[in-house]
Amino acid sequence: MLTRGVNVLVTGGTGLIGGELLRALIDHPIGKVWALARSRNQAGPALRIADRLSRTSSGIDPDEDHGVIPVAGDISADRLGLSAMDYDEIRNEADIIIHSAAETSFIRSDSCSRTNVAGSKHLIDFGRTCRRNPLFVYISTAFVSGVMSNKLVHEDESLRPENEHHNEYTRSKAVAEQMVRDSGLPVLIVRPSIVLSAGLSCLQFARAILWFVPLLKELDAIPVNPAGRPDVVPVSFVVDSIIGLLEQPKLKYDCYHLSASHEGSGPYSTLSEVTDRFYDRSKPLELIRPAEWTREMHRRVIRTPLQRKIFASLRNYLPFLNMSVLYDHSRLREELGSRFPALPPFQSYFAELLGVLSTDPVAGRMLNAVRA
Ligand SMILES: NC(=O)c1ccc[n+]([C@@H]2O[C@H](COP(=O)([O-])OP(=O)(O)OC[C@H]3O[C@@H](n4cnc5c(N)ncnc54)[C@H](OP(=O)(O)O)[C@@H]3O)[C@@H](O)[C@H]2O)c1
Repeated sequence: MLTRGVNVLVTGGTGLIGGELLRALIDHPIGKVWALARSRNQAGPALRIADRLSRTSSGIDPDEDHGVIPVAGDISADRLGLSAMDYDEIRNEADIIIHSAAETSFIRSDSCSRTNVAGSKHLIDFGRTCRRNPLFVYISTAFVSGVMSNKLVHEDESLRPENEHHNEYTRSKAVAEQMVRDSGLPVLIVRPSIVLSAGLSCLQFARAILWFVPLLKELDAIPVNPAGRPDVVPVSFVVDSIIGLLEQPKLKYDCYHLSASHEGSGPYSTLSEVTDRFYDRSKPLELIRPAEWTREMHRRVIRTPLQRKIFASLRNYLPFLNMSVLYDHSRLREELGSRFPALPPFQSYFAELLGVLSTDPVAGRMLNAVRA
């Protein structure tokens, strides 16, 4: 599929996964690569894509000609917000559309619907008008299953838009995946689990998932099962998997978990030890099984106004941390064989990410704000 002359449209190229994907595509002798991006703070798409590429794992000099064609657009807008010229060129020439753009916030529900549902619909409609019947690669999420716990989940049992979801983000991603499946386009759906920016010294991306970790310094205990295990993968694994799948002449399935499964990380107790060591805690953070976290214990452990505010800010995250669901990746292993990408365990790069987070003035500001 990723062969000489193949033209690819990528959305979300300023983001964590999309940016690394663009970097990988640059190294391929394919045709055109368009990167649809919004303007922000007076920086247009060209500047934003160059800036993102300079922050990739093997950064590209912003002045270098990287060959990616930035196009101004917004997936939530009519006709993707593209100029008539860009719209016609991509519609006539695109062979693959890689849809990575999304609202990834757990709390901006309206924006999740607008971007992830309406935006994906716009892109699907666009794909349908394309001349070359492009392959639609949708970067979904393993969490399209909604609320589940203590399970190893396989691809075919997990798309549940109608299920209870912890937040609008995962629900909107599930709704969009269903739309992609029903689109009639040739599709490849990839479902990463939790993706971390290992290997990138970029604070913005480290903070996206791990923002709360520095705040845990202020707590003595949290209701997290010490034996629970998160399914976490480094961004390089996700990108290498997508490229590996696209390099296959033919795929056996249309959906793959890009997940750690049983191989990815140790239990929270191990991750907590790494955190204790990194922050040089005199008293280790105590992990209490949620079933044992009683009201009485909550009152005893979460005492100060600062602790109460930090605990409140964790409310959206704790259910995720405690899902303890792993996503089976045997399909990916079967498909890629000896080209299955390196999958280092989370604890091997967690301290590196804590180092990136420690340069975060926002964590300090948050603490000062809640202290005030
Ligand atoms: N990171 C994870 O743990 C993870 C796990 C599973 C699945 N995923 C999925 O993987 C994909 C990429 O995630 P990520 O972590 O790279 O996200 P990210 O870093 O938050 O990047 C999101 C990207 O989407 C773009 N975007 C948002 N709204 C847009 C709009 N209306 N029009 C055009 N572009 C828009 C953003 O552009 P701006 O820069 O202009 O905001 C940015 O480039 C998403 O679909 C996400 O659901 C991520």
